[in-house]
Amino acid sequence: MKISLSALLGLAISAHASTIEYTTVTGYFLQDETVTDPSTFDYTAVNFGLINRTYPADKELKHHQSTTQWERFYNQVQKFNEDSPKNIEYKVLFLGRHGNGWHNSAETYYGTPAWNCYWAELNGNSTVTWFDAALTPAGEAQALVAHDFWQKLIEEQKMHTPDNYFVSPLTRTLQTANLTFNGLDLPHGSAAFAPVIKELFREGISIHTCDHRHNKSYIHSIFPHWAIESGFSEEDNLWNGVTAETSAAQDVRSTQALGEVFFGESSKKKSYVSVTSHSGEISSILRVLGHRTFSLSTGAVIPVLVKAEKKEGKATTTSVSWTASAHCTVAPITSVTACVCPSSAAPVTTPLVATGY
Ligand SMILES: *[C@@H]1O[C@H](CO)[C@@H](O)[C@H](O)[C@H]1NC(C)=O
Ligand SMILES: *[C@@H]1O[C@H](CO)[C@@H](O)[C@H](O)[C@H]1NC(C)=O
Ligand SMILES: *[C@@H]1O[C@H](CO)[C@@H](O)[C@H](O)[C@H]1NC(C)=O
Ligand SMILES: *[C@@H]1O[C@H](CO)[C@@H](O)[C@H](O)[C@H]1NC(C)=O
Repeated sequence: MKISLSALLGLAISAHASTIEYTTVTGYFLQDETVTDPSTFDYTAVNFGLINRTYPADKELKHHQSTTQWERFYNQVQKFNEDSPKNIEYKVLFLGRHGNGWHNSAETYYGTPAWNCYWAELNGNSTVTWFDAALTPAGEAQALVAHDFWQKLIEEQKMHTPDNYFVSPLTRTLQTANLTFNGLDLPHGSAAFAPVIKELFREGISIHTCDHRHNKSYIHSIFPHWAIESGFSEEDNLWNGVTAETSAAQDVRSTQALGEVFFGESSKKKSYVSVTSHSGEISSILRVLGHRTFSLSTGAVIPVLVKAEKKEGKATTTSVSWTASAHCTVAPITSVTACVCPSSAAPVTTPLVATGY
């Protein structure tokens, strides 16, 4: 077992705090409105949540009566960027959660308390693997729903498709992005689906093995044509099976990832950005963007219109702690509300499985 000293001391993530200020621009999507209930929201039933309305930029469109809502919205976003100084960028992020994975099914099967305190720390049981879980057939179907929805909007509303695609390196998100965007009949002149695999868009790093990614060679072997960002390590150096990233630590890395998406290399004039990620990570991104809490069901996608403003001044360095999590060493005596380890197995803070994979 190898755990770096810095991880044990809780300094596993130390990043430059952003000098970029993010705002969710409201008034465009139903998901921004407090009256919209996330638990019953179906993005495919309501045009991704795009509100039917006019925009200030409509009057400059020659035939605006015959243009679709999505065409006029795209035109408005372009106008925001044209009218903004260099330090301000508007982008529409399409944040997609992966479809149902084997770990999601196993959590349901064992119940959340027992899952958290024991089963999730194993790589799987004798019939199912949930280390870096893959999609279940139901999860694949959810990704195909997203695929069909994009295709419908391209055809019916001439919707502009993403200019940039990012995806978390975990298997379930790679598969979801592939099933969603591969094989779409994209509008003429749009960016091809050529995703970049980005470490910092991975799920919150708990001691669960579903948050432990495969090595880079493996990822490259399953999607050989996809770009992996530079600096991506062969082994997963962030997961250690002992300490877990806190929400504060996760927000620091989400901030760093967003900074790269908004002002990094090749971010200019890329106003629609797709990010295929996870429920915990999308919640973190939404916190950083100042968006209200909006939980996504597996396979769901939320668009967010974001204004990012780069502020002058020196970046400060933030360092945030990770916390150790206890778990049982044998299967717990489960109760509905809490996990109870058998008396022979006091909670320990060492990993149940080998960390190298
Ligand atoms: C927008 O209007 C169309 C009909 O013109 C309607 O079918 C659709 O549900 C409306 N969408 C929203 C998000 O209000
Ligand atoms: C392993 O977990 C899955 C839940 O994902 C369950 O359906 C299956 O029955 C379990 N296998 C054994 C041998 O307990
Ligand atoms: C990617 O998606 C296509 C369908 O568009 C599918 O045939 C293929 O098996 C998928 N690749 C992987 C590695 O999952
Ligand atoms: C990467 O992981 C795969 C299986 O997960 C393993 O077979 C392979 O040896 C590993 N490669 C390296 C370079 O560690």
